[in-house]
Amino acid sequence: MKILGISASPRSSHSQTLKLVEAVLDGARSKGARTELAVICTLNIEFCNACGVCHSKGRCVKKDDFPALYRKILTADGLVMGSPDYFRSVTAQMKTMIDRMAYAVHCQLLTGKYTVNVATSGGTGQYRQVTDYLNRIMLNFGSFITGSTGVSMRQGPRAFGNAGRRAFRLGEDLAEDIGAKRTYQAQGRIMEANRAYFRDLVTMHKVDWAHEYKYWQRMGKG
Ligand SMILES: Cc1cc2nc3c(=O)[nH]c(=O)nc-3n(C[C@H](O)[C@H](O)[C@H](O)COP(=O)(O)O)c2cc1C
Repeated sequence: MKILGISASPRSSHSQTLKLVEAVLDGARSKGARTELAVICTLNIEFCNACGVCHSKGRCVKKDDFPALYRKILTADGLVMGSPDYFRSVTAQMKTMIDRMAYAVHCQLLTGKYTVNVATSGGTGQYRQVTDYLNRIMLNFGSFITGSTGVSMRQGPRAFGNAGRRAFRLGEDLAEDIGAKRTYQAQGRIMEANRAYFRDLVTMHKVDWAHEYKYWQRMGKG
């Protein structure tokens, strides 16, 4: 069982969000998972330029660090996504990475995976807007959401300690969900609707999005 943590704070080892991501990975390792961490602000990930080549050919035209990270995302059983709250959303670095995953959403390539999302915020304390966003996005890619947590840093070290413990337990839950192939029924219904929606969308654009259309045909539903 392989779990990839992705932290999107630019504050490298000083990042509080990174500490929460690491706590989730610690919890997962305590249940036998193999873990890996990617700090995306240390990677060169360019903006999506909406050329559409990923839809038509299944590959990106950009020559940067994204394809290697993408392979790790697509081969992981579980994902841990962490971002600080930057103006009530994820950091630009996290959003830039997500934008490069258009092919993954059209083909629902995170189906069968499980995700934990974590966030920290400062004075306004709206970290839940960030975890809610990540929960929606990762579910939209086809991944089950095991859970999410976060903390407002203005609440002080005790609150941060509690968030770390919640993150550790979520890591344990993540490994258990993967091991048991747990189904969350409400999420499953959303996934089923999404699969039908994206299969139809790709079918409608089958000439331009030939690679994705072939993918859905291979899935037996093209
Ligand atoms: C550009 C920028 C925008 C931010 N916007 C918000 C915000 O809207 N609300 C908030 O509570 N904190 C905001 N913060 C504070 C961070 O969310 C907070 O310090 C967070 O814990 C940093 O996480 P890190 O230690 O992982 O980098 C912002 C910080 C930066 C640098």
